[in-house]
Amino acid sequence: MKKRILTGDRPTGPLHLGHWVGSLQNRVRLQGEYETFILIADVQALTDHFDHPEIIKKNIREVVADYLAVGIDPDQSTIFLQSMVPEIAELTLYYLNLVTLSRLQRNPTVKDEIKQKGLQESLTAGFLIYPVHQAADITVFDAHLVPVGVDQLPMIEQTVEIVRSFNKLYGNVLIEPQAKIGEFPRLPGIDGKAKMSKTLNNAISLSDDAKMVEKKVMRMYTDPTRVHPTDPGHVEGNPVFIYHDLFNPDREEVEDLKARYVKGTVGDVEVKQKLARALNHFLDPIREKREKVIADENWINTILVEGTRRARAIAQTTLQKVRKAMQIDYRLM
Ligand code: TRP
Repeated sequence: MKKRILTGDRPTGPLHLGHWVGSLQNRVRLQGEYETFILIADVQALTDHFDHPEIIKKNIREVVADYLAVGIDPDQSTIFLQSMVPEIAELTLYYLNLVTLSRLQRNPTVKDEIKQKGLQESLTAGFLIYPVHQAADITVFDAHLVPVGVDQLPMIEQTVEIVRSFNKLYGNVLIEPQAKIGEFPRLPGIDGKAKMSKTLNNAISLSDDAKMVEKKVMRMYTDPTRVHPTDPGHVEGNPVFIYHDLFNPDREEVEDLKARYVKGTVGDVEVKQKLARALNHFLDPIREKREKVIADENWINTILVEGTRRARAIAQTTLQKVRKAMQIDYRLM
């Protein structure tokens, strides 16, 4: 039997290059080796978009299109909708007894998000507990591996703690998952900030057209210490070169640009033009596939309906085991 992967994304906007290097690439690579389940986390997305459900609704199709465009193969990977697997919500409720409020308040990713979104005063119970809901996502599928970006590590830690508590209290029912981080875990944004994020408005989306990519690259943050193209520049930690390293397959060109940058014999414009070209070369086949996918409304629906059916059957089996272990497996005669 193959081991399982469970992973997913909140459908709040288009996926971007950060998603690709952080986790999508791993999902594509591993989908043959693991039985893969990919969840569109529309219920989790409600935790900070409950007042704008239309945004979530609109983006479900977009995220599925992004998946298929980068090479997630629906014959190998089961893509499904979280809200249509109510067993996840039920399991969340049971797990909430195993987690203290103070533990939830210490979650570093949740803390960052509260600060970033200015939620301090208006923090809802739903938002604070989403890591527990995520633990239910992962464990209801007996997942061994969770390919995600580094910001999701605290969620996997929380999941492991819940699994241990549950198994100790009720017997060995749940599987302890492991995170799988991408080759470059945290891609900086085009503004040089530590993380590419749609919320920070510093992302290059997988669905951006060539012109948009060019525009974004041309206004990218580079080396702040370099005022003139003849000043010696810094390559390390410079987002433009981080992107070159990850997306430009022409190693010779990249090494040449780096050498000249350090010496002060190349301008930012040339470095950026070559980067835009490399990125567009990388994105061209993704955009092409994406257009075909998005044009075929039925295809996306079928993938979600069939995926959800498969996923739900597994979730139901796990919940039977969970209820039995917790001595709440009553039956109506
Ligand atoms: N929290 C994840 C994100 O913001 C999305 C997500 C929801 C997820 N459930 C998951 C990721 C389960 C991995 C496993 O990107």
